[in-house]
Amino acid sequence: MLVDGKPYRTIWLNEDGRSVNIIDQTRFPHVFSIVTLRSMKAAAVAIRTMQVRGAPLIGATAAYGVALQMAEDPSDGGLDHACRTLMATRPTAVNLRWAIDEMRTLLKDLPRDKRSARAYARAAEICDEDVAICAAIGRNGLEIVRGIAARKGPGATVNILTHCNAGWLATVDWGTATAPIYMAHDAGIPVHVWVDETRPRNQGAALTAWELGRHGVPHTVIPDNSGGHLMQHGQVDMVIVGTDRTTASGDVCNKIGTYLKALAARDNDVPFYVALPSPTIDFTIDDGVREIPIEERAGEEVSKICGLTRDGRIETVSIVADGSPVANHAFDVTPARLITALITERGVVAADKDALSEMFPERAVG
Ligand code: MRU
Repeated sequence: MLVDGKPYRTIWLNEDGRSVNIIDQTRFPHVFSIVTLRSMKAAAVAIRTMQVRGAPLIGATAAYGVALQMAEDPSDGGLDHACRTLMATRPTAVNLRWAIDEMRTLLKDLPRDKRSARAYARAAEICDEDVAICAAIGRNGLEIVRGIAARKGPGATVNILTHCNAGWLATVDWGTATAPIYMAHDAGIPVHVWVDETRPRNQGAALTAWELGRHGVPHTVIPDNSGGHLMQHGQVDMVIVGTDRTTASGDVCNKIGTYLKALAARDNDVPFYVALPSPTIDFTIDDGVREIPIEERAGEEVSKICGLTRDGRIETVSIVADGSPVANHAFDVTPARLITALITERGVVAADKDALSEMFPERAVG
């Protein structure tokens, strides 16, 4: 995507062929800055501290993390250490496990002197594959947006609600939930996006709104609790969200609050779509509510908020009564029955075990 006229991906290899650049997402929307990762440990820290976040980008960063380790120590012990350290960074997004498994399977039987080059090549492929997957999700989702636009009539705006950031900042490029939006906008279909602010980390307000603004897509940031009201008043034509892990039976784990949007959508007959890249499918589990590990993050993310002061400083202030305990569950699970359809790179499919395994037979288990 373009930032100030310059094309960027969210992660890329430096000219030295070894270190890797990322965009530091902890400083958005106030500061656009690039950070260089020079070691596997730095990649793990970037994932854990959410300098990079979003399921596909976490996977891509982990792949480069393994490559960075292979450049430093290509031994079996080094490979094992990298895989274990990176796996421990965040528990919910399954792309992390997927990417680490890809790297481990590829590297473990190679001679040591071949591991580094092969690891960098596979990490680059994982990034390119993610771009292709997101572009295909965009094309498939575009047809849904086009259909709604046609039903609404010439010139009518399609109002789309999204939660969290499933945009290009959460992937390598395009985004998942945003890819159909960008493509619809580029195709001249009038779209407007309701952007949930997405407390407590504010990925909607800080990241999605920033992205959409840079691309010229009309949008409005709303408090997380507004979606139901807007749906009751006919102001949402469809919901599109991303996912951190989708089970074999189509249960979708995504940013906390997604489930409530799906309930409101069902109550108001608003179609609820999930943009789903195949590496985000966990074919080893069925029941999302019981089987997906939900990350619990620091209470300070809830009790404190940070923003830009008038004199340009980023400052953190407390917003919760002193002494009150807080809880910070980062994700929730939307059961398959509330999902209109999954938009994948291979097409639009029902959130259903048979349909999903028919679409991705090579990944399905058993
Ligand atoms: O905690 P985050 O910011 O990593 O959570 C990200 C989300 O929940 C996204 O919506 C999800 O990863 C889909 S990204 C294409």
